[in-house]
Amino acid sequence: MKITFLGHAGLYLEFDSYSIVVDPFISGNEKAKEKVNMDELNPDFILVTHAHQDHILDVSAIAKKSDATIVSNYEIAMYFQAKGLKVHPMNHGGKRQFDFGTVKYTNAIHTSSFEDGTYGGQPGGFIVQTDKKCIYIAGDTSLTMDMKLIPMSYALDLTILPIGDNFTMGIDDAISASSFVECSNVLGYHFDTFGYIEIDHAEAISKFEKAGKKLHLLDIGASMTI
Ligand code: NI
Ligand code: MN
Repeated sequence: MKITFLGHAGLYLEFDSYSIVVDPFISGNEKAKEKVNMDELNPDFILVTHAHQDHILDVSAIAKKSDATIVSNYEIAMYFQAKGLKVHPMNHGGKRQFDFGTVKYTNAIHTSSFEDGTYGGQPGGFIVQTDKKCIYIAGDTSLTMDMKLIPMSYALDLTILPIGDNFTMGIDDAISASSFVECSNVLGYHFDTFGYIEIDHAEAISKFEKAGKKLHLLDIGASMTI
């Protein structure tokens, strides 16, 4: 599975013949809009963790162009369905078999409202399991004991955690989260986009290293393969 960082909490997953966009925030992200060409994204599915603008800004544009199915909580799914887009609604703890594998909508501790104040359901994360790889995309969340439930059912190859602090967990809590989910291979996201969430990259990487874990930090537009 190839994972490309689209900036902020945006991801592009490519595996077998499938591709999935997660939480696209590109056109409004000064740091990403020159580095990511949205026209090159042609996903089958778009996973949306919660309704905040920094996670949904480009969902409609990408969905219209690609005819992708938007997978999110019930409220977000209904919001996009009302715009004429294809959706699949889920809710916490629910797992669904798609052609490419299974998706589970996991708990997250955060908030979730659209920019105009419309209720965006409860925020979540996703576990994406294909026949080859299993990844956990935490979404915006604090460290939570619920993460300990994940390794009871899944052996993760990669866990994707917010590390920017202030709005989500920071680096120290992400190290604990990595232990909770029993996966030492971590991709950090949700950092540096705004002043509130700037991090010291070298310090973050070294803290993970000291804890016996690996933190990947991708440049915007760069990829890793698992
Ligand atoms: Ni958020
Ligand atoms: Mn966010």
